[in-house]
Amino acid sequence: MEYRGGSGAFGGDVRGRVDPALGSEAYRLTVGADGAEIVGGDEAGVFWGRQTLRQLLGPDSFRPATIGEPPVVPYVTIEDRPRFGWRGFMLDVARHFMPKDGVLRYVDLLAAHKLNVLHLHLTDDQGWRVEIERYPRLTEVGAWRRRSQRGWGQPPQWDERPHGGFYTQDDLREIVAYAAERHITVVPEIDIPGHSQAAIAAYPELGNGDVVDVEALEVKTDWGVNPNVLNASESTLRFYEGVLEEVLDIFPGTFVHMGGDECLKDQWQRSPAAQARIRELGVADEEGLQSWIIRHFDRWLAERGRRLIGWDEIMEGGLLEGGLSEGATIASWRGCDPGIAAAEAGHDVVMCPSEAVYLDYRQSEDDGEPVPVGKVNTLEDVYRFDPVPPRLVGTSHAERVLGAQANMWTEVAETPQRVDYQTFPRLVAFAETVWSERRDFESFRRRLNAAHYARLDALGVDYRPPSGPRPWHSRPGILGYSR
Ligand code: ACM
Repeated sequence: MEYRGGSGAFGGDVRGRVDPALGSEAYRLTVGADGAEIVGGDEAGVFWGRQTLRQLLGPDSFRPATIGEPPVVPYVTIEDRPRFGWRGFMLDVARHFMPKDGVLRYVDLLAAHKLNVLHLHLTDDQGWRVEIERYPRLTEVGAWRRRSQRGWGQPPQWDERPHGGFYTQDDLREIVAYAAERHITVVPEIDIPGHSQAAIAAYPELGNGDVVDVEALEVKTDWGVNPNVLNASESTLRFYEGVLEEVLDIFPGTFVHMGGDECLKDQWQRSPAAQARIRELGVADEEGLQSWIIRHFDRWLAERGRRLIGWDEIMEGGLLEGGLSEGATIASWRGCDPGIAAAEAGHDVVMCPSEAVYLDYRQSEDDGEPVPVGKVNTLEDVYRFDPVPPRLVGTSHAERVLGAQANMWTEVAETPQRVDYQTFPRLVAFAETVWSERRDFESFRRRLNAAHYARLDALGVDYRPPSGPRPWHSRPGILGYSR
């Protein structure tokens, strides 16, 4: 960012225009005696320039309504552009459903932080959240669970209240349109072949009925990696193609996330049908079967002009050595090494290593930190994360890193208020990580304290204060799992 200062009173007149010479998402903001001018390399650039102007206008400009006197803004010229084109946030609405207004609010929060991808984790063992007209039981049955594990301890503690909800197709079209107005792309995730028990509860024929009593499976009520995975039959492939046809109609963006993570192979090992399928397809083993399924949907999406993105497990079973389409993209969550391997093999990568940018992980060692899961990911850990690992720096493979994404899983974050607490202020640090070339944590911390907490207050975000959790943020007696 280039900054040239001066001072004076801002007249309130804002003019925007596009000059493609500036480049995608870049902008030049000039504030002078005659108001503000924002020149963007494209409309997105103009929009990001407006977000910077809001910052200059002060915290009150983040309130939905105008209060008080017009602020004084220094005369400035700022030239700015993002480091990465994929500046993402994943919201898990499967483990705990977030009603639509909460998702729209998150779109606004992403926009204010110049983040441009909202990845919605729409399906998992514990809930199916997207209406599919041709398969109504996915939401009639799959969107509701009998009870929920409270926290993540052993033995499990239970919240005996049923939980659920889903988005209609029109709700999702509204979210997509609202996001598009803010230059944010929504990436839907339909997780296969693991993390699919809610779908199997709705349509038992999707499961491995020759080795488990699929009729008895319910939408899963506790957390963790689960052996109840999809079968690999032709009819299951056709079923998911039907799901995807509707998904493509709702989500116009290029990328569709197909999950692919944590698919236990126990049932396929025991299933005569799966073993027969392995022989029929001529693949080596169960890993090969998973690869075959992923490759099927990779091609299916590519034929329709879309691109598959999946968790880094999609590289297993030999797919990285050939078989994935050119556009297939890896979300590297088990550290950055899978992302490095994918980039070196010529695939695009979104870096989202759990040890740096998983926002469900706790923010400090404080005993009052609500429901400790995973390791500690401090504000500073998030800020210091660099999406381009040292091994790729200076190589042509670095260009394969499209950007990064912070992931907010919600097993232990039941409400929008809990999501706020986990997400902020770490998402602020993340926003700077993916936008700025030059970074300095102490400078960031000063700016956070001097200005940004006040903006979050104006936006009504229930963030974690620097002094630690407030009494109502803690969850005494609810156990987690810690590393
Ligand atoms: C993941 O955290 N299972 C992608």
